[in-house]
Amino acid sequence: MKAKNQIGGLPDQSPNSENDTITMIQLGNKLFRDINLSSNQIQACITCHPLDGRSAGMDRQQTSRGTFGQLGRRNTPTILNIGFSNIIFWDGRRNSLYDQAIDPFVNPLEMSLPSESELLQRIQNDTSYLSFFSNAFPSDPTINLHNIRLSISAFEKSLVSKSKYDDFVMGNLQILNRQELEGLNIFLDVGCNKCHSGSLLGGNTFSKLESTSLYNSTDLGKFEVSGDPNDQYIFKVPSLRNVALTQPYFHDGSVRTLKESIERMREYKLNRYISDSEIDLLVSFLKTLSDKTKSN
Ligand code: HEC
Ligand code: HEC
Repeated sequence: MKAKNQIGGLPDQSPNSENDTITMIQLGNKLFRDINLSSNQIQACITCHPLDGRSAGMDRQQTSRGTFGQLGRRNTPTILNIGFSNIIFWDGRRNSLYDQAIDPFVNPLEMSLPSESELLQRIQNDTSYLSFFSNAFPSDPTINLHNIRLSISAFEKSLVSKSKYDDFVMGNLQILNRQELEGLNIFLDVGCNKCHSGSLLGGNTFSKLESTSLYNSTDLGKFEVSGDPNDQYIFKVPSLRNVALTQPYFHDGSVRTLKESIERMREYKLNRYISDSEIDLLVSFLKTLSDKTKSN
C-alpha cells in the first residue's frame, strides 16, 4: 500500500521516551499548567498550548499574547506529537525538547520571568511540588533545571495523537471515504510529502516558499539563528497532523483556512499543478489526520 510505504503510521510512543515514567509525566503536566510560573501569575504553558477537551495544542490566535498582553511574533504551533520532531521552533533554534523546556518561562514575549533562578525559587517555595519531585526522581528529587527539563519534555513526548488515517494504514481500509482516499492519492501524486514527510507529515525539515512577497520582512526565519544569508525566509516545514484543528496557519498566522494554505503551496515545486477541486479533496484528506478524540 502506497500510503503505508510513503507516509506510514505514527508509532504509539515518541522516540527517546523509554525512560520517561508516569510520575515524571505527572510532574511535567503540573509544571505545564502552573500559572504561578509566569511573571504576573496569570499565564502557563497551557494558556497558549491548550490541550483539554477538543483543544489541539495551540490557541488558534494569529500570534499569541504574553503574560502582560504583549503580542508575540509567530503563530503558536501545536505541541501534539512534538516528540517526533527533530526541529524545534519555526526557525529551528532548538533541536530537542530538553533544551527548549525552560525557554518559555523566561521569554519576554511569553511568561516573562526575570531569570531561571526565579523559576527555581517559585517551584521551591511551593510545597505541593515536593511529593511530585520525590515520586518522579526518587534517587535525586532535587528541584533543579535538569529535573524540570526532563519532566516537561517527558510530558510533551506523551502527547501522541491517533487519527482515522492511522487506522487506515493499520489495515482498516474501509475507514476512509472516497473523497478522503482521492485526497490522499493526490497528496502523494503531487509530492506534498517531499516536504511534509514521514509519519509526522512534516516537522523534520526546513523549506522556503518560492515567493516570499507576502512575508513580513522583519521575520527572517532560520537566518536569525544561523546568520547565513541563504537561510533568509527559511522556516520549519510544519507537521500536518491535526492541521484541521490548528488554524490560522503559516509561521506568521496570516493564512486563515486550509484551502488557502494549500493554494499557497502552488508556489512550491510540486510535481504538477493542482486544480481547485483537487484542493477540496486534499482538505478532506487532511481532516483524517485529526486526533480521534478531538476531531473536526
Ligand atoms: C505566550 C504564548 C506561549 C506560551 C505561554 C508558551 N508557548 Fe510554546 N510556543 C509559543 C509560540 C509562539 C511558539 C513558536 C515560537 C517560534 O517558533 O519562534 C511556541 C513553540 C513551542 C514549542 C515548539 C513547537 C514546534 O513545533 O516547533 C514547544 C515544544 C513549546 N512551545 C512548548 C512550550 C512550553 C513547555 C511552555 C511552558 C513552559 C510554552 N510552550 C509556553 C507560544 C507560547
Ligand atoms: C517544498 C516544500 C513543501 C511542499 C512540496 C509542500 N509544502 Fe506545505 N508547507 C511547507 C512549509 C515550509 C510551510 C510553512 C510555511 C510558512 O509558515 O511560512 C507549509 C505549510 C503548509 C500548511 C499550513 C500548516 C500550518 O500549520 O501552518 C498546509 C496545510 C500545507 N503546507 C499543506 C501542503 C499540501 C497539501 C501540499 C501539497 C499540495 C504541500 N503543503 C506541499 C512546505 C511544503
